[in-house]
Amino acid sequence: MEAANSASSNCFLLFFFLFFLVLSLSLQVTHCNVNYDKKALIINKQKRILFSGSIHYPRSSQTMWEDLIKKAKDGGLDVIDTYVFWNVHEPSPGNYDFGGRNDLVQFIKLVQKVGLYVHLRIGPYICAEWNFGGFPVWLKFVPGISFRTDNEPFKRAMQEFTQKIVQMMKDEKLFESQGGPIILSQIENEYEPDRLAFGSAGEAYINWAGKMAIGLNTGVPWVMCKEFDAPDPVINTCNGFYCDSFSPNKPFKPKLWTENWTGWFTEFGGPIYQRPVEDIAFAVARFILKGGSFVNYYMYHGGTNFGRTAGGPFITTSYDYDAPIDEYGLIREPKYGHLKELHKAVKLCERALLSADPYIVSLGNYEQAHVFSSKSGGCAAFLSNFNSESTATVTFNNKHFKLPPWSISILPDCKNAVFNTANVRSQASNAQMLPTNVKLVSWETFNEDIFSAEDDSTITVSGLLEQLNITRDTSDYLWYSTNVDIGSSESFLRGDQHPTLTVGSRGHALHVFVNGQLSGSASGTRENRRFTFTGNVNLHAGVNKISLLSVAVGLPNIGPHFESYPAGVLGPVVLHGLNHGKIDLSWQKWSYKIGLRGEAVSLWNSFQLVDWTPLSLAPPKQQPLTWYKAYFDAPVGDEPLALDMGSMTKGQVWINTQSIGRYWTANAEGNCGGCNYPGTYRPAKCQLGCDSPTQKWYHVPRSWLNSKHNSLIVFEEISGDASKISLVKRLVKSK
Ligand code: GAL
Repeated sequence: MEAANSASSNCFLLFFFLFFLVLSLSLQVTHCNVNYDKKALIINKQKRILFSGSIHYPRSSQTMWEDLIKKAKDGGLDVIDTYVFWNVHEPSPGNYDFGGRNDLVQFIKLVQKVGLYVHLRIGPYICAEWNFGGFPVWLKFVPGISFRTDNEPFKRAMQEFTQKIVQMMKDEKLFESQGGPIILSQIENEYEPDRLAFGSAGEAYINWAGKMAIGLNTGVPWVMCKEFDAPDPVINTCNGFYCDSFSPNKPFKPKLWTENWTGWFTEFGGPIYQRPVEDIAFAVARFILKGGSFVNYYMYHGGTNFGRTAGGPFITTSYDYDAPIDEYGLIREPKYGHLKELHKAVKLCERALLSADPYIVSLGNYEQAHVFSSKSGGCAAFLSNFNSESTATVTFNNKHFKLPPWSISILPDCKNAVFNTANVRSQASNAQMLPTNVKLVSWETFNEDIFSAEDDSTITVSGLLEQLNITRDTSDYLWYSTNVDIGSSESFLRGDQHPTLTVGSRGHALHVFVNGQLSGSASGTRENRRFTFTGNVNLHAGVNKISLLSVAVGLPNIGPHFESYPAGVLGPVVLHGLNHGKIDLSWQKWSYKIGLRGEAVSLWNSFQLVDWTPLSLAPPKQQPLTWYKAYFDAPVGDEPLALDMGSMTKGQVWINTQSIGRYWTANAEGNCGGCNYPGTYRPAKCQLGCDSPTQKWYHVPRSWLNSKHNSLIVFEEISGDASKISLVKRLVKSK
């Protein structure tokens, strides 16, 4: 009996022993850290060549996410890269929003479900052509703060947010060290230029940032992009159109390319950039043959800057970026297909690339072979022709290879070329915006108030105030108003000349009203926000009302201490051409009002709060500062949709209470149309779209529509024919 008992308890012990053995083995498998060596990232003890693509979750509707991620996987990507957008998550201190388009956890879980990894670029400074570079505007008003330098209030806020995000990820077990998809995280973003500007304070800050991040113990490596001296063990990585000549700051770190720009962003009134895929493929192949092992396409899908999320200023609502997947989620050929083939070809070389250092064989004046050969990894070769003018025929391993100008062929077995960067086999696609049969009906209008000094104002002071300090970005709009008494008509009219008004502004756009009439508009540019409005004004004897509507078009996202860049009418404001000379109005009493009446009542979701006039009864003249409202039913089908705003000038638009974004149909100006490709290494940004609006179509996510009775609200600042606004659908056809 006793023997039987002890046998059964032995069995029991053995069972438990085996159970825990299996459990601990499986834990070892799933809970291993991501590491790196000089060659590559090491995931699950495996070195990997990884292709990655940036897809920013708030730049598309939630319902688009899975499809975008699947398309990225089909395109041969291993990783999805996204920034974390602090200002959408913490709109006011301590109040967090991770719902809807801001649901970061759901986005990462979708990437995991589809079977890809994540590179989480926490920042929290992100640049990204995003409002204020991702910082919440309230951060600027924290006492004593100075952004991105060795400043306690800033570091405290940055650490709190970074910790919060890391903790969220840990709670959801999303780091690879916990069995999740996140294999890499980024702290800060392109600090190099600021470090140079900030000197020792910059150095202290970036070292602190690295230490702080490492201290969060995520079990996966941290990177700093474009930061030449990232503190160990943080990996410094390259951003740019080309990164083949980049080396990390320590020989034990791998060569990673965190932003390979697939095109470029656009600004209202600027050209549209296109980067040829041959150039991207050439740059990638060259990076790989120089020992690179991670390439992220910025952007793989650019998407849309909905609402007032675009930065800049002047960044368009579209963030299409000429990416392999277009703004609307459709595949852009031949970019997508050619890169897919490139990824396949490189993956065939993965073992060889990761197990050997290359030796170089000269094949001619402009021709070279990079050969990766080892017992364990086999042999792979990259044959390059650097002559941008002519095709070369080279002999390698007793075989002849034809290399088009400025191209690289990939030979995964050192014998057969499976891919050449300049031979594009994917068929080009042709995207078209086609009419839908949707009718926009029941048009009504409402005229916005033109604010004047007698009205209820937010503030009345002597002198001109900086815009952001007043609005705190709760609205794009700030009214400045004053009255000027110019006496009797004899005393102000000089001959029959009109007096002129000049208004000095620090940005970004301005509409000038005199006695309730629009006298004109002016704006700066992204590079130079400062401008001066000069225009004739119609004055009458006695008191005249001057009302200036200053408009912010997205807050700056780049530059040392961009938080202190001023905006608004900062003067001087001067009336010229009067009989008694000029009058400087800059220092007299000014009244201020933040935002529009329509904004104050949230006109896009409470239509009943104002008196609308049917459009058919409204005066035929196209009025400035006008709200429009219409209704429409959703078109059948599943093609992506857009509003054609070509008949309007500048403003904002909402559908079913959701902001589609800012619109502005300004034409591309200046030196536009240049492109040196093919043949030269630079520039890689070709310019298109001259003499037509930079952006006339505005993405309307299908999922924002109901089948019937959708509301459209438009606020037009200058003039336009709203009845010509139409809903179009996007179709992509092979050429
Ligand atoms: C990089 C920056 C990105 C983005 C890009 C241009 O310098 O890191 O966030 O701004 O430029 O699109």
